Amino acid sequence: MSRKNITIRSLVEMKSAGEKISVLTSYDASFTQLIESAGVDVILVGDSLGMVIQGQESTLPVTLDEMIYHTRNVARARNHALLVSDMPFMSYRSPELALESAGRLMKEGGAQMVKLEGGAIHLQTIRQLSGQGIPVCGHLGLLPQSVHKLGGYRVQGRGERDAEQILDDAVALEEAGIDLLVLECVPDQLAARISRKLTIPVIGIGAGVDCDGQVLVLYDMLGINPHPPSFVENFLHSGRTIEEAIKAYSTAVKQADFPTKEHSFS
Ligand code: KIV
Repeated sequence: MSRKNITIRSLVEMKSAGEKISVLTSYDASFTQLIESAGVDVILVGDSLGMVIQGQESTLPVTLDEMIYHTRNVARARNHALLVSDMPFMSYRSPELALESAGRLMKEGGAQMVKLEGGAIHLQTIRQLSGQGIPVCGHLGLLPQSVHKLGGYRVQGRGERDAEQILDDAVALEEAGIDLLVLECVPDQLAARISRKLTIPVIGIGAGVDCDGQVLVLYDMLGINPHPPSFVENFLHSGRTIEEAIKAYSTAVKQADFPTKEHSFS
């Protein structure tokens, strides 16, 4: 059976039907081919490439030109999956700059959606991007681009006030026009609440099994990271090929077998 192209509409339909959405990062054409043939729904060109490709300590040094370069490489091999690309640190600090950066990611890189990190401060930017026909993915919870402000890579939204703030931000982002939301490193109960409350799909990473879908960094789920976060599972084991490991990840997400409690925070 031929695969349908994944669009914003099909993602919302999947959410309504209770069908889980599989998302994986990719940074080049070869891995993208494998991810496509494994039937993953959404490919994210994450600025995690700063760490896993460039060996940087954080995502902060990644430039817009580098994001465009990797997005273009992924776009050449993309077939049916929806292609989302990260707006790097400081490339969306005003609505005008965000329009320019997102426009370049789409025109030069071939992105079909752009992702930005943070809450209420970006509402005007999201309205402008959305108004210009640019699909936007929000990102709340642990914000890797704010690692120095957060004081490290730590779980967010554990206290009642912080949890309410993340929930309020999620609702405000949806009202402003985001089409997808990534929730990173938040307690599973909070992620479940947000996923139920929003109409748009919510994709978790370290956010429990009750999100509408899951994302992992490709190199983490292939066991290449020597110090993986506790929410990661290495799918490249038991003599599997890389393609089989990616397929196993996608199937585990679809069947809600991943993540388990052991990969979640409370
Ligand atoms: O940069 C990235 O890969 C991401 C995911 C971890 C969600 O933002």
